[in-house]
Amino acid sequence: MHEQIYIVGGKELTGTIEVQGAKNAGLKMLAAALLSEEPCTITNLPKIEDIERMKELVVSLGAKITTSPQGTTIVAKQLQTTLEPTITGKLRASAILAGPLLARTGEVFLPYPGGCNLGERPIDIFLSAFRALGVAEEESEKGFRLTAPHGLVGATILLSRVSVTVTETAMMAATLAKGTTTIKNAAMEPEIPALADYLNRCGAKITGAGTSTISIVGVERIAGAEITLIPDRLDTGTFALLGAITNSEITIANAEPNHLEIFWQQLERIGANFTIEGNTIRTHHHNGLIAQNITTHEYPGFPTDLQAPYTVAMTQASGMSLIHETIFSGRLFYTDQLRSMGANIIMCDPYRVIVNGPTKLRGRFLTSPDIRAGIALILAGLVAEGETRIDNIYQIDRGYEDIVGRLKKLGADISRNRPA
Ligand code: EPU
Repeated sequence: MHEQIYIVGGKELTGTIEVQGAKNAGLKMLAAALLSEEPCTITNLPKIEDIERMKELVVSLGAKITTSPQGTTIVAKQLQTTLEPTITGKLRASAILAGPLLARTGEVFLPYPGGCNLGERPIDIFLSAFRALGVAEEESEKGFRLTAPHGLVGATILLSRVSVTVTETAMMAATLAKGTTTIKNAAMEPEIPALADYLNRCGAKITGAGTSTISIVGVERIAGAEITLIPDRLDTGTFALLGAITNSEITIANAEPNHLEIFWQQLERIGANFTIEGNTIRTHHHNGLIAQNITTHEYPGFPTDLQAPYTVAMTQASGMSLIHETIFSGRLFYTDQLRSMGANIIMCDPYRVIVNGPTKLRGRFLTSPDIRAGIALILAGLVAEGETRIDNIYQIDRGYEDIVGRLKKLGADISRNRPA
């Protein structure tokens, strides 16, 4: 059945919301499990569509997955080398599987990856990292055949641009390469040290993850291990913004606040009222939000994945703010939909919009363009007057576990399909 999300906005929220395990860590752990022949168990994997697609890919490559209350266990004794194009078309993160596959088998066919509609998302930096490790490539109309018949050889990889998934892919490939690899201009997102910790527990020799230079001494094989995913920092930041936007008192539990330092600083600057204690964040009533500019930046800067929910907050803030998206070229087009709800937003170019606030938003029929813009539309619907209906919610289900159930628990008037 074609599902949609229905929201009646304008209600104050209250109660506790639990943060899910990090999507962008879970995807990489599933890939990393392919580096070993031994069982790897992941706990706290979020129940979301992107994780399901990644599991399907891992199984299509020959791994066995079992799920129990203790977690998801992956055993990858033997591997095939062709990624399933119908799934890779839906999930850009599938490109990271090329790292472990090359390391284990010396070969992979990588179809052109898909995923979010965030503008042009090339894979040139992946290819140059593989080339540095001694991989040959052959391009066809369907994708790339990558081969390293004599195994991967450690090297210096200088990333021409900071990239999260290229850093992770190169780190995984280099784990089983001959000799030492140095990744320079590496991404520093918290998911990267989390992946390195996991690999090190399996016997890899990685230092420097979480800084811009990562060093990997290749080993012949690694064992399996158990891992609990870090909390999802984007889930956390989104709910903190939800509290601010709806001026509600909500408790966000099981978070890792240290992964969002600049975000909290920005939240203070806009006049949001909140407290952090251990792994819990509480939002409190405030006296109105104040407009402040943001520029998205690689970690530890303001995350691009929180740009859309932040922009919704700016529609409710007094004054003018400039939202400058620097990571992706297609990540501001959802603002059209906020405009249809009554927001005063001017698009300067594909990378910049100006928001004038505060404006009352009115419920509308909206379509979710990608994971993060999708959740932003939900936030907008929750503060808008009247009914909002959101289509294409697969995009939201890709990244947020039971979002309707979790928001209902806060007292939101939200449902999948039209309420009776
Ligand atoms: N890029 C290239 N060539 C490449 C690879 C990347 O030009 O070969 C460009 C990208 O097009 C982009 C920039 O480099 O303009 C940086 O992108 P990056 O590679 O860091 O992004 P990613 O690794 O594809 C991950 C997250 C994204 C998140 C970004 C930025 C995963 C699975 N995805 O993507 O998460 O926005 O880092 O932090 O980890 C999401 O969760 O909704 C999401 C899109």
